[in-house]
Amino acid sequence: MKLFVALLAVGLPALAAAHSWIVCTDYLENNGWYWDVAKCRGWPRAATTFNLRHGIFGATNTYTHRLDNHPEERGLCKKSRDDDRWYEADTPMAAYYQGQKVVLTHPANNHVSESNCRYRSQIDWENLMFVVDGNEDPCCINSTKLIQIMDMGVSPYGRYLSDEVLSTYPKPGFQNVPKFCEDPEDAMGTYNFTIPTDLKPGRHTFVWKWIRDPAVSPFTTCWEADVFATKAERDAFYVATGRSTEDMWDFYQIHNIVDGMIMDPVDPSVNEVITG
Ligand SMILES: *[C@@H]1O[C@H](CO)[C@@H](O)[C@H](O)[C@H]1NC(C)=O
Ligand SMILES: *[C@@H]1O[C@H](CO)[C@@H](O)[C@H](O)[C@H]1NC(C)=O
Repeated sequence: MKLFVALLAVGLPALAAAHSWIVCTDYLENNGWYWDVAKCRGWPRAATTFNLRHGIFGATNTYTHRLDNHPEERGLCKKSRDDDRWYEADTPMAAYYQGQKVVLTHPANNHVSESNCRYRSQIDWENLMFVVDGNEDPCCINSTKLIQIMDMGVSPYGRYLSDEVLSTYPKPGFQNVPKFCEDPEDAMGTYNFTIPTDLKPGRHTFVWKWIRDPAVSPFTTCWEADVFATKAERDAFYVATGRSTEDMWDFYQIHNIVDGMIMDPVDPSVNEVITG
């Protein structure tokens, strides 16, 4: 019995850490360092039920399991489709436009190969985005209703890779988590994917699928979004629902990073006064 208890104690943290899910389905900052709820315009199914908005980023909520799934063991989506029920005033559905670059966020949950801390051999196997053909939830991960729209690549891993490779961001795939070492469990990672230019306007279901390791069942998150033909139409919809119409920006385009520190240039007009 004692041994059993000891095994449980060792096994539980590993289990709890072995998941991830999409927290935000339309985030304003690509490759960002820290989660900022104000930058999230759209949420996955049942975000309120899973306390994604008000909870600590990446933390499990208190009364249910995490918002992710092993679709080979259960349904493809954690909750069956019910748009009126799963989107609420403070966790609304996203709206996209054809050709838009969309940023997604997810917690690291310890799965990053980082030379500055932790292990170098955390595998990253597959990161895909699908759109569902039709209005019904697909049964399972191998459903022919899942149309792949993006391969988000995989992150580098392996004990023989250099420190530089393992600690340089942005990375492709899941492990694009620049502040991993500060909080390996709950640090934020981002992905981006593109809405196909020929995706029919209207409401669609999107599915994220992550294979962390081929020996472990994939993880999925499902959400709906209204797709518009143009940014102008999408913007009108976001204005009407009290949301920002800005396009996503890239963290590294707006910040100048030197030796891991943000060294933003001084306002040029100030410079001019000093030098001129
Ligand atoms: C999907 O996989 C299940 C078993 O996991 C199998 O029963 C079913 O036939 C498969 N469907 C397709 C379309 O491959
Ligand atoms: C967006 O994602 C793609 C696919 O993972 C990647 O190749 C590209 O570098 C990303 N873009 C930026 C600006 O990070």
